[in-house]
Amino acid sequence: MIQSMTLAERIGQLNLVNPGDQPLTGSVANVDVRRSVTEGRVGMMFGIGSIERRREIQNLCVRETRLGIPMLFASDVIHGYRTALPLPIAMACTWNLELIERSAHLAATEARADGIDLTFAPMVDVTRDPRWGRLAEGAGESPVLGAMIAAAMVRGFQGSVDGSQLTGADRMLACVKHFVGYGAGDGGREYAAANLGPHELHETHLPPFLAAIDAGVAAVMPGFNTIDRVPVTADARLLTTLLRDQWKFAGAVISDYTAINELQSHGMGDLAAVSARAINAGVDVDMVGQGFVSTLERSVEAGLVDESTIDRACRAVLRMKFMAGLFDDPFRSLDVERAAKVIGCDSHRKEAREMASQSFVLLRNQNGVLPLPTTGRIALIGPLADDRTNLPGTWSFSARGEDCISLLEGLREVGGDRITIETACGCNLVDDPVMARRLNLFGETVTINDRTSDDMIAEAIEVATRCDTVVMAIGEAKEHSGECSSRTDLNLSDGQRELIAALRTTGKPIVLVIFAGRPLVLTDIVDQVDAILYVWYGGSLAGPAIADVLLGRREPTGRLTMSFPRSVGQIPVHHDQLPTGRPLPPNTTFEKFKSCYLDEINDPLFVFGFGLTYTEFVFDPPTIDRSVIDAAETAKVSITVRNVGRRDGVAVVQLYWNDSVAEVSRPRWQLQTFERINIERGGSRTVTFSVRAEDFAYVRANSIADVKWQWDAGEIILGVGSSVEKLTNVTLRLVRAPQ
Ligand code: NOJ
Repeated sequence: MIQSMTLAERIGQLNLVNPGDQPLTGSVANVDVRRSVTEGRVGMMFGIGSIERRREIQNLCVRETRLGIPMLFASDVIHGYRTALPLPIAMACTWNLELIERSAHLAATEARADGIDLTFAPMVDVTRDPRWGRLAEGAGESPVLGAMIAAAMVRGFQGSVDGSQLTGADRMLACVKHFVGYGAGDGGREYAAANLGPHELHETHLPPFLAAIDAGVAAVMPGFNTIDRVPVTADARLLTTLLRDQWKFAGAVISDYTAINELQSHGMGDLAAVSARAINAGVDVDMVGQGFVSTLERSVEAGLVDESTIDRACRAVLRMKFMAGLFDDPFRSLDVERAAKVIGCDSHRKEAREMASQSFVLLRNQNGVLPLPTTGRIALIGPLADDRTNLPGTWSFSARGEDCISLLEGLREVGGDRITIETACGCNLVDDPVMARRLNLFGETVTINDRTSDDMIAEAIEVATRCDTVVMAIGEAKEHSGECSSRTDLNLSDGQRELIAALRTTGKPIVLVIFAGRPLVLTDIVDQVDAILYVWYGGSLAGPAIADVLLGRREPTGRLTMSFPRSVGQIPVHHDQLPTGRPLPPNTTFEKFKSCYLDEINDPLFVFGFGLTYTEFVFDPPTIDRSVIDAAETAKVSITVRNVGRRDGVAVVQLYWNDSVAEVSRPRWQLQTFERINIERGGSRTVTFSVRAEDFAYVRANSIADVKWQWDAGEIILGVGSSVEKLTNVTLRLVRAPQ
């Protein structure tokens, strides 16, 4: 095929355009797109409003371009499609890899039925900064869990890739992003520089990308960020030496939105220079920026870009089209009738409810206030009590508020006649009109009430007084997280905190249901309330799923995958922090000349791995079947978990490790693996983890692309338990040769 293409046609395939039918996900859209398509100057498109439009464009490509090469349609299919599923950070909190894989499969089924061939997902950026709004799209702070989830997502989107074609009409190509370090931007600010050394880069940020590549991901998107001052989009060490030469990635590298043009702001030259730099570094596709189509022909003539480099990139695009089956039948996934049957169907909604219910994390439950009694009066108070428009969460352009079921509706459905629910809004979600405008850029999800706050609070107190329990539906708005939604204040808004304080005066038990796209700072409210169920943004079926858990039809099973800071000043705070030469002595909060704050405790408010249940588990002391292993041997660590509470439940048994003597400083604890198990009331289960010496390898790096993973002979401490702060240890010695 390549041989029959002119240079301009080959470069045309590298052009990914967005005509702007849908809300923009960058600051510009492309114009005159129809003409560019007919001239064969567009290879891929996204931001197209409907399947009918996609059909029309496909017709144009196949029938009216010289070579008839089909168009490849992309989109940001991040967590579900028309059926919105929980945010990725919420799905991660299920610790249920099979469910996570199914979530990507469900999303692919709907998106592909709508004619989308490729998703710009999964986002696998590891982050330790809850100020960063995009953490909602990722799996949290652990590179180990992040890698497992990355692979599960790729499998879910793509299925098992059979030969070189995707196996089913229910699968789509995946593009893992944002390679790499994008979650480590200075100050948690979007598009900011990441100052990472090679050890940190390889051990913390790269593992999920490698896992996605090993799972066969079709494409990789470089981040907007710099790493150690070099913009990733122009970094050949990352995009060629590491990705292609060392990791053997054979797919396409798709730039982020105008990221090539933005290299100009990084001081890398004019558009022609930066376009040449990007393709020479390893970028194959130019998203929206038009630098490739407008400059590369001349750069080839001038000898700045080799024609074989253009061919490499063009081949990468054609390969994706081939994998998607577009050369067999360009209209295969453009069947309007099938789309109507599949998208938003009942079985998907049922699955969405299941996924949502597994993603909630119970952070507090004093005196067993939850589950609520299934008879009585509930005061459902808060700006999100009967909200549908926020429920899909950020990055859900195909979801619709009208398909969602609010918490009020969910409680009515699950509670039935035996529960009376009274509601009051109590306060605004946001009081500041400037903030409200910013949050409403993709459509109105936040409104400011005309009523005074005193009036709303008085009504809420009146309602609460008449009821047995107060359930408050509060938190952030949907667009408080997502792209370009960094925040410096992570407290609940003043209005919401005043409402909590006011409702306390009623003496009724207070259950907070917190909707959010990030860990918020809950330090000053945690002791003011009886229970906190953290529900993130749970998608179309969030309302009934929350009701299922509140009313005890379902168990809360989520566990945190990101630490909750006590205050913003403490960020970054995460479970795998490095030790300091001057640690605080145990059980102290301050000591002069030790690593601590004058005004804050070091530890997070809620740790990684934490989440309560409605039952009680006892973790017996772990045992290990051998205390010494060499490179060829395996040790087995076993632990018995007993359910001594009054309900069935799910335990997430977590194994962490620490290497106490190494060539570089090692985290106090890092996750090694885990198992999520159901245990019936009164029952017990024994979990056995197998470990090998190579599981305890760590990075020794000379530079970004000169790295080795090594393990040392010596002692490894293994901690097993229900979260990183509840571990019991066993030790293992690694030796080089058999003893
Ligand atoms: C910019 C975002 O960074 C990226 O994640 C997304 O896929 C593109 N816009 C396209 O929407």
